[in-house]
Amino acid sequence: MKKTIFAGVCAFLLCALPAGAQWGPRQIPEPTDGLKDAYKDYFKIGVAVNNRNVNDPDQVKVILREYNSITAENAMKPQPTEPKKGEFNWKDADEIANFCRANGIKMRGHTLMWHSQIGTWMYQDEKGNLLPKEEFYANMKHHIQAIVNRYKDVVYCWDVVNEAVADSPVYPGRPELRNSPMYQIAGEEFIYKAFEYAHEADPTALLYYNDYNDAEPAKSKRIYNLVKRMKDAGVPVDGIGMQAHYNVYGPSMKEVDDAINLYSTIVDHIHLTELDIRVNEDMGGGLRFRQGATTVSDWERTLQQDQYVNLFKVLRKHKDVIDCVTFWNVSDKDSWLGTSNYPLLFDENVKPKQGYLAVKGFDPKMDELEIIEDFKPSELNQPGQQYPMVNSQGFARFKVDAPKATSVIVSLGLGGSGGTVLRKDEEGKWVGTTAGPMDEGFHYYHLTVDGGVLNDPGTNNYYGSTRWESGIEIPAHDADFYAMKNVPHGKVSQVLFWSESTKQNRAAWVYTPPQYDKNKKKYPVLYLQHGWGENEYAWWNQGHANLIMDNLIAEGKIDPFIVVMTYGMTNDVRPGGLFNFDYKQFETVLCDELVPYIDANFRSIAKKESRAMAGLSMGGMETHTITLNRPEMFGWYGLLSGGTYNPDEVKGTGVKGIFIGCGSKEGPDMIRSAAKALQDAGYNAKGYVSEGTAHEFLTWRRCLYEMAPMLFKK
Ligand code: XIL
Repeated sequence: MKKTIFAGVCAFLLCALPAGAQWGPRQIPEPTDGLKDAYKDYFKIGVAVNNRNVNDPDQVKVILREYNSITAENAMKPQPTEPKKGEFNWKDADEIANFCRANGIKMRGHTLMWHSQIGTWMYQDEKGNLLPKEEFYANMKHHIQAIVNRYKDVVYCWDVVNEAVADSPVYPGRPELRNSPMYQIAGEEFIYKAFEYAHEADPTALLYYNDYNDAEPAKSKRIYNLVKRMKDAGVPVDGIGMQAHYNVYGPSMKEVDDAINLYSTIVDHIHLTELDIRVNEDMGGGLRFRQGATTVSDWERTLQQDQYVNLFKVLRKHKDVIDCVTFWNVSDKDSWLGTSNYPLLFDENVKPKQGYLAVKGFDPKMDELEIIEDFKPSELNQPGQQYPMVNSQGFARFKVDAPKATSVIVSLGLGGSGGTVLRKDEEGKWVGTTAGPMDEGFHYYHLTVDGGVLNDPGTNNYYGSTRWESGIEIPAHDADFYAMKNVPHGKVSQVLFWSESTKQNRAAWVYTPPQYDKNKKKYPVLYLQHGWGENEYAWWNQGHANLIMDNLIAEGKIDPFIVVMTYGMTNDVRPGGLFNFDYKQFETVLCDELVPYIDANFRSIAKKESRAMAGLSMGGMETHTITLNRPEMFGWYGLLSGGTYNPDEVKGTGVKGIFIGCGSKEGPDMIRSAAKALQDAGYNAKGYVSEGTAHEFLTWRRCLYEMAPMLFKK
C-alpha cells in the first residue's frame, strides 16, 4: 500500500515538471492504429519505402499500420529502372510493387522524368552531345510507357515530371524552368510530351507535376504558371505534387496556405509527396546533411512538432483538394537527410515521436474554433506591459521583441505540445497564441530563445521550477474567493529565525488574521508547505493564501487562524533525487526550530489540536512523512495534490481531521477512494476534487478554501 501511495505522489510531482526541462524524448507506447486511421476522413497518408523497409518485419508492421499509399523512394526512377537504353532492371521496383499488391496498397509512381537519377542515354549520345529532339522523345516514350504499363494495376498516380521549374531567384527575362539537358533539347514541350506518353499508357492514372520549395511564394508562382500553361495547351495534367521538404523554421503556414490556395485554382488534386521537416535552416530538394551538432535538443523537438502540427492543421482545412500526404521515408533511420536531421515522426529506432501523437491526436472541434479577438493584458503583467494577453476563451497570446533571434518558444502550451512556438510577424516581433484555451488559473512559464532560457519581460516573476518564472493568470470563473476585496485584511510578515541544525537564519512568512493586532486572543496555526521547485513565497505570492483567508474570515466561514509558510528545502533536491529525498532535515527545522519559534513569538495555541500541517505536491509528501513521524505535534493533516493517507498508517496518531484534494486532471479517483476509506474507518476526512484543473495553483487555492473551514473544529 505504501508503495502505491508513493508512486501516486511521484506521478503528481512528475506532472509538475516544467515544460522546458531537459528530459529528452519520452517513450511513446506502441500505437494500436495508424496515421491513416486518424486521417481517414481527410486524405491518405503515404510513405516512401526502400527495399530494406519492405523486408524488415518490424518496419513492415509500422508501414502496414500507419500508411495507405506507398511510393518507391528510388526503385521506380528512370536510372534504376533503365540504366542503359533498353536494358530494364525491374528487380527492386517489382519487389516493392509486389509488396503493395500483396497488401492491397496502391502506389504513387515516382518519377518518370527528372534531371537527376536518369541514364544519360535518355538525352545524349556516347560523345556527350545532346540528342536530336525526336530521338529524345522516342527514348522518353519507350521508357515512360514501359514502366507505366508494367505497374498500371498497382500505381494510381504518377509524378510524371519532377523538379523542372527553376529555383529562386529567377532574374527578369530568364526562363522560369530549369536549364536541364531535356529543357535544352526541347524547351518546355518535353514536359507536355511526358504527360501525353504517360496518359496514353494509362488513361486512368492521375498525373502530377512534382516540385520542391513548393510553398516559397516566387517558386510556387512559377509552378502555377507552368501547370496553367499545360492546362491551357490541353496537356493531361491532373495534380500538383508539393514535395514538402520543409524545415523547423519555414515555410510559414501562411505560405503553405497561400500555395495550396493558388494551386487549387488550376488543379483538383494536390498531394504532399515527400514530407519531412528537418532540424536546420536548409530547405528543398537538395541533399544536405545537418551541419554541426548531431544531438537534437528539446527546444528543436518542440519547433519540429509545432511545424508538423500546424502543417497538418492547414492540410485538414484543404481536405477537399489534398488527397494524399506522403512522408519521405518510414523513419529517421532511413531518411535521405540522415538521422541527425531528425526529420520524420518516427525516430532512428523506428519508434514514434511525441510529434506523432500530436499530429495524430488532433481535435476536429479545435480546427473549427474561432479565436475571439478580445485579448486583454494578463493581470500579472508588469506596469504598462501589454503582453502576454488573455482572451475570454482562455487563449493566451505572447509577443516578444528579439530582433536577432532565430527561435522563440513559450514553455506554456496545451498538454504534450512542448510549448507555444512564436513566429515573427510583419513588424519583426515574435508572436504566438496557445493552440487552444488554457486551464483557468495561474501558470508559470518562461521563454526559450535560441535554446537559452529567459523570462518574459512582460510579466512579474513567481518562484517555481527552482527559478523565478514568468507567470500568467487565465481568469477563473470562481476567482472571487481569492480576489482582493474591500474586507479587513490580515498581514503577511517575514520572520527570520535561527536554525541551529542548519547553522543559518531561515525565513518564513506568517499570516496573522485581521483582528490579530487588536486583541490578545491566541490562535491555532496551519503550517502550509509549497511544492518542489517553489519556495516560501509561493503560497501568498501566487497562491493568494492571505486573500483566501481574509475572504473566508469576512464571510464568517472560518474561525481565524495563523498560517506559517516556510521554505521546505525542496529545491535542494534535483530530479533524479526525487525518489530518495530525505525529509529528516526539514522535519528538524520545522518541528524543533520553527514551531518553537512561532510559539514563542506569536500568540499561537501551542497544542496538537490547534496545529495543522498541509502541503501541496512535494510539500504533501513532506506533510505525509512529518505528520506520521510527529503525531504528538500535529492534529490536522492536509495533502493537496500530494498523495493520500490510508487508515492503517494514521491509526493511533490521534489525528483530528484529514483533508486530501487534487485537480480533476490529475487522477482524482485516488483521492475519492482514499477519502472514502478513511471515512469508512471512522476518521474525520474530506476529499476534494477541483474541477477542470491540473497540478497547478488554482487547484491548491481551491483546496485551501475547502480545507480551511474544516480545520480546528472541535
Ligand atoms: C532522394 C532519395 O531519397 C535518395 O535516396 C536518393 O539518393 C536521392 O533522391 N526529391 C525527390 C526525391 O523527388 O526523389 C529525392 O529522393 C529527394 C528530393
